[in-house]
Amino acid sequence: MYDLLTGPGLWLSIGICLAGLFVRGVLYIKGLSWQLDRVAYTAHPKAGIKGALRSIFFWILPFGTRGWRTQPFMTVLFFVFHIGAIGIPLFLAAHNMMFQEKLGFSFVSMNQTVADVMSWGVIISAVFLTIRRLVLPEVRILSTPHDYLILFLSSAPFITGLICRYEIGGYSFFLIAHIILGEILLISIPFTKLSHILLFFLSRAQLGMDFGIKRGGMKGKGLAW
Ligand code: HEM
Repeated sequence: MYDLLTGPGLWLSIGICLAGLFVRGVLYIKGLSWQLDRVAYTAHPKAGIKGALRSIFFWILPFGTRGWRTQPFMTVLFFVFHIGAIGIPLFLAAHNMMFQEKLGFSFVSMNQTVADVMSWGVIISAVFLTIRRLVLPEVRILSTPHDYLILFLSSAPFITGLICRYEIGGYSFFLIAHIILGEILLISIPFTKLSHILLFFLSRAQLGMDFGIKRGGMKGKGLAW
């Protein structure tokens, strides 16, 4: 079972994730229309690219945007959650050993204490992100079962990962559960809101272009509208 999951299962889930994200990206870009979006995508590429990069940069910078600064607790939860959600799968030593053995390459490995802190950070912040959706009326009204599902899908591999790490419960059972949940997460990325892993960058770039060109970015530079 372990060999099946870490061999063909791993390739298949990575393949579905990457191919699915590629399709989502192509569909997103094909769906853009300057008439509908009223964004001058090609007219002023320099100002557009500058605006796009600026927008992405400030959004991925903790407290970089006004939105992040006005909700400091949410900002801390968001960044603690995401630093672990991205860092642990790629840079955990145990994962890198598996990548090297099964895929023939590996990334740099992080220190185990840092990995423990980051994994706990993901679980604790996921709990608070869930509570936030349940208790804040302005967030609750926008939350659907899909939102709770992606929080669960994202944190389940971390919960089972820590159970294996501390060897509580049956190690082999939780290791298999951990790998299955990790692969379900990978496969679900293109089909759920987790596609924001790519679409975040595309939509921020789109909005950044809009602001970089029309909404103030080229003010006083002879823009036609
Ligand atoms: C490059 C990578 C990523 C970027 C740029 C990104 C960005 C974002 C943004 C902007 C939000 C919305 C925050 C808000 O509500 O204001 C979000 C939410 C979320 N992200 Fe990511 N994300 C990334 C990777 C991931 C990964 C790898 C996972 C899971 C494994 C993940 C899971 C989530 C979840 C569960 C939420 C919803 C949190 C909530 O319920 O409030 N993200 N992400």
